[in-house]
Amino acid sequence: MSGQGGAAAVAGGRPKVVVTAELPSQGMKRLRERFEVVEAYAGRADLLRKLEGAEGLVCLLSDAVDAELLGHAPALRCVSLYAAGHNNVDLAEARVRGIAVVNTPDDLTASTADLTLLLILAVTRRMREGMAMMTEGRFRGWAPKLLLGRELSALTVGVFGAGRIGSAVIRKLAPFGPRILYATRSGPRPELAGAAEHADFERLLAECDLLTLHAPLTPETRHLFTLDVFRRAKRRPFFVNTARGPLVREADLVEALERNLVSGAALDVYEFEPEAHPKLAEMENVILLPHVGSATVEARQAMSLTAARNLEQVLAGEECPNRVV
Ligand code: DGY
Repeated sequence: MSGQGGAAAVAGGRPKVVVTAELPSQGMKRLRERFEVVEAYAGRADLLRKLEGAEGLVCLLSDAVDAELLGHAPALRCVSLYAAGHNNVDLAEARVRGIAVVNTPDDLTASTADLTLLLILAVTRRMREGMAMMTEGRFRGWAPKLLLGRELSALTVGVFGAGRIGSAVIRKLAPFGPRILYATRSGPRPELAGAAEHADFERLLAECDLLTLHAPLTPETRHLFTLDVFRRAKRRPFFVNTARGPLVREADLVEALERNLVSGAALDVYEFEPEAHPKLAEMENVILLPHVGSATVEARQAMSLTAARNLEQVLAGEECPNRVV
């Protein structure tokens, strides 16, 4: 149903929950069975207006859940993210206001790791150039040196961030035979022994032919990848990002590509999403996707169910395993 906000806070005794987008069916069904669901699909002003009286908010990674928004929601008890990342939420403000923040950390691991592998293979095998050759009718026949790429078994891959997704990437990539180094905040992970070797950031830069990012966006990781870092990347690595755009200064990445400090890039996320630096679209060695790491039917249905269940648990006063704050 479409709610009006304000006076519609509680109907039939069910808590009012505002949802900022139509989620896949399983989660929406569950939410509608248990809550008075109010749709706020028309942008920020619509959302702020409808939050009055809401006890729950189910929202996306693109919704800025900041102090202003939380201030519009005096009855709010839970922000349920339809996402693993929570960099769009002012966690300190939520904490001060006693609002729980919950996410969906497990549901998109496989789909995002799969997409990362796709991008790693696509950028190292020059897929964009090959596709352009075919779609533009420029293929003149097999040739010994046509579109030579790189073989994964000959490369050293650096995985930056080895949480759920980074670890899954390592496990899925290992059978292709590259040497794999990983850098992660929490130090060496015994379960990755045999598949990959722990290393510090500088070693990743010094030794890797491909860097793939899987760290969360935090004040420490924001703009970590700058021109200076790309200069220190000795082997002109390929660069893959399926994590968060602002880990990288995108203009610096463009400059690094122009100066041939980086051999190619495959990006699913952008510093100023949904905008991508206009030069990226012009570069033949760059592959761009529109933030679709978790875009599988399986992941998105699971995320919608988890978002609904998380909210139920918090509003029922139960323990929620996916609680961020
Ligand atoms: C997340 O949930 O954080 C992902 O970026 C969605 O694809």
